Parts: sequence; structure tokens; C-alpha cells
Amino acid sequence: MSAGLDGIVAAETVLSHVDGQAGHLVLRGLPVERAAESLDFEGITALLWQGFHPLGGRPEELRAAIGRARVQVAVRLPALLPAIAGLNAVEALRLMLAALPDGNPADDAVMAVAAVPVFIAARVRHGQGLDPVAPDAAAGHAADFLRMMTGVPAAPMLSRALDTYLVTISDHGLNASTFAARIVASTRAGMASSVVAGLCALKGPLHGGAPGPVLDMLDAIGTQDAAPAWLAAELAAGRRLMGFGHRIYRVRDPRAEVLKRAVAHLSSPRIDLAEQVEKAALTALARHRPDRPLETNVEFYTALLLDAVELDRDLFTPVFAMGRVAGWTAHVMEQEATGRLMRPASRYVGPMAA
Ligand code: ACO
Repeated sequence: MSAGLDGIVAAETVLSHVDGQAGHLVLRGLPVERAAESLDFEGITALLWQGFHPLGGRPEELRAAIGRARVQVAVRLPALLPAIAGLNAVEALRLMLAALPDGNPADDAVMAVAAVPVFIAARVRHGQGLDPVAPDAAAGHAADFLRMMTGVPAAPMLSRALDTYLVTISDHGLNASTFAARIVASTRAGMASSVVAGLCALKGPLHGGAPGPVLDMLDAIGTQDAAPAWLAAELAAGRRLMGFGHRIYRVRDPRAEVLKRAVAHLSSPRIDLAEQVEKAALTALARHRPDRPLETNVEFYTALLLDAVELDRDLFTPVFAMGRVAGWTAHVMEQEATGRLMRPASRYVGPMAA
């Protein structure tokens, strides 16, 4: 038995490869560093979908289809927005995605990808008492998201940074949310249901919920000099340092470096403090757990990047979903094409009838 399924191979995939010892991530044959440099969100989605979707491998046609689907999905907003009162950003996204039907998997994949930014942006504006901004079918996905949220076109460097982020986190082996999506897909429940399962798993602080708390940590530390004592006190209290540690990586998460470089192009008020806190945290963690390599994970610089793109911290997990939905949908299609109903075994340790 392996309680956290460590080392258990539950699927074969052509989508991504994570080498946790060397610190490499390959997305459909491309190292993440090259993918982030050369592709935008629609480009990585087309690459991931290649062989599984009619528009896979055809980025321009997929770009147009996603743009049209953003417009189509926005028609649902008047019916959905009243239902999200009182929900936080990720709960609201969960509710709105759950309202999408399970129909034709190819159409549903495009719709799921298109829906995430439309829903996140509409909820932000709804919370401010503002009407949604209509999607622009001709715009890039990242740029249109920022415009739908604020009502004005975003600076190209912000859209580019967001695109880099979305590509960097688009897929990552059989992580918890992708596994959840594949389990649901293995029952043939459908695309929308599988994507909702992925989002539910992503929501937790041990997975996609970490970057908001990373900024909270930087705020609480405040100055570089305060870092060592603050971090030591957290560890002594038995708490985990957010943005550090990973189930697979035993070295620095390669995505952390890609995102750190992207943040360097933006004006981030917290970057100097973050670099010092990262150093202090690595020292503290090495002292705390000399037996267990605990390195920086993707969430640390995700927090810095999304903050510099001027997103509120409650949007960090929903925006993670905006990128990861490319991977979830690809895995669902791969599972449907090649997989088998997932049904592991448990070992009964309870009482037996006398
Ligand atoms: N701070 C302090 N201690 C840690 C940390 C951390 N960030 N991460 C792991 N440890 C400790 C654990 O307490 C555990 O100690 P124990 O054996 O005494 O219980 C030991 O290291 C091993 O940790 P596990 O929980 O077995 O490692 P696992 O592979 O399950 O954890 C995880 C991976 C969940 C990411 C963990 O490192 C963590 O909680 N990190 C903080 C949250 C975070 O940054 N999450 C984002 C991950 S990236 C992503 O999902 C996209």
C-alpha cells in the first residue's frame, strides 16, 4: 500500500513528464522553459490537444474557436451571477463550471477552456456592482481575460506575463487535480464533470491554494531582517512554509525559475523581499528537515507574478485553473481514448462480524 500513491503509475501519458530528481519538466516534448518562451496559452493548448481533439495541433483555428466560445459562454452569465452571492472566487468558479453540460467532448473541451476567464472576470465585476464586459472573440485569451476584468485593455507586458504563467502551469504529470479529472473521465462522466473534479482538487492549500498564503507570508514578514526569526517560529509551531516542498521535486521546481524570470520584466514591489525570504526559508527548511530536501515550488513565484499582474490574491487559485484547464481537458481526452475505469483497491482494517 502507498498512502499518498507515491511512485504508483496510474496512467500512461504523452502530455507531460516531470523529472523530480533533475528538476526538469517536459510538455509534449518541449522543456517548460522553451514552451514558456515560444508559446502562448492557445499555442500550448493546441500542442497538448494534438491527436486528441480535431483542433489539436492547429493553434490558429483553436484560437478562433476559443474566442468564439468565450462569447458563447458569456450568454450564460445573467442566469449564473445571482447564484454566486456569498461565494469566494474559487467557489463561484466551481458553481459556474458545474452549470456547463456534459455533451460532445470536443465542443465541451473548448467551452471549458473558454469559460474559465469569462466566469472569473464576471464574478470580479459582479462583486464591484458592475456588469460583465463582453468577450472579444478576436483577442488573445490572456489579454481578453484582463480586459474583461477591468474594462480597459491591459498593458501588453502584463498580458505576456500572464500568458507565460498560463503556459508554465498548463500541465504537470499526474498531479492531484489532473488525477481527479482523469478518475471522473474514466467513468465516462463527461468533460465538464471531469473539469469540475479537477478544480475541486486544485482548491486545497496543499495544491493550488498556496500562492495567496505566500503573499500573506511576505506581508507578515515585512522586512528582510525579520525573515529568519519569523520562519523559524512558523516551523517551530509545526506549520508549513507555503511555496516550498513538493511531492515529486527534490530540487528546485523548474517552473519557479521560469516565473521568476518573467516577474523580473514587471515592476514587482515585493521581488527583493521575496528573494531574501526564499533564501532564508531554504536555510530554515534545511536546518528543520536535514533528511528531506524541501525546495522552492511553483507557487512561490506564482504569487509574485500574479500580484505584479495586478490580480487580487483570492483570484490566484481560479487563475491557476485558467491555465491548468488546458492540461485537464487534454488528460480527459487521453483518458477517454486510452484509459480504463480507475478502480483501485483498499485494505480493510475495520472489525469483522463475529
Ligand atoms: N514547510 C515545512 N515542512 C514541510 C513543508 C513545508 N513547505 N513541506 C513538507 N514539509 C515536511 C512535512 O511536514 C513532512 O514532515 P513529517 O514527515 O514530519 O510529517 C515532510 O516534510 C514530508 O512532507 P510530506 O507532506 O510527506 O510531503 P508531500 O509530498 O506530501 O508534500 C506538499 C508536498 C504538500 C507540497 C508540501 O511540501 C507542502 O505542504 N508544502 C506547502 C504548501 C505548498 O506550497 N503547496 C503547493 C505545492 S505546488 C502545487 O501543488 C502546484
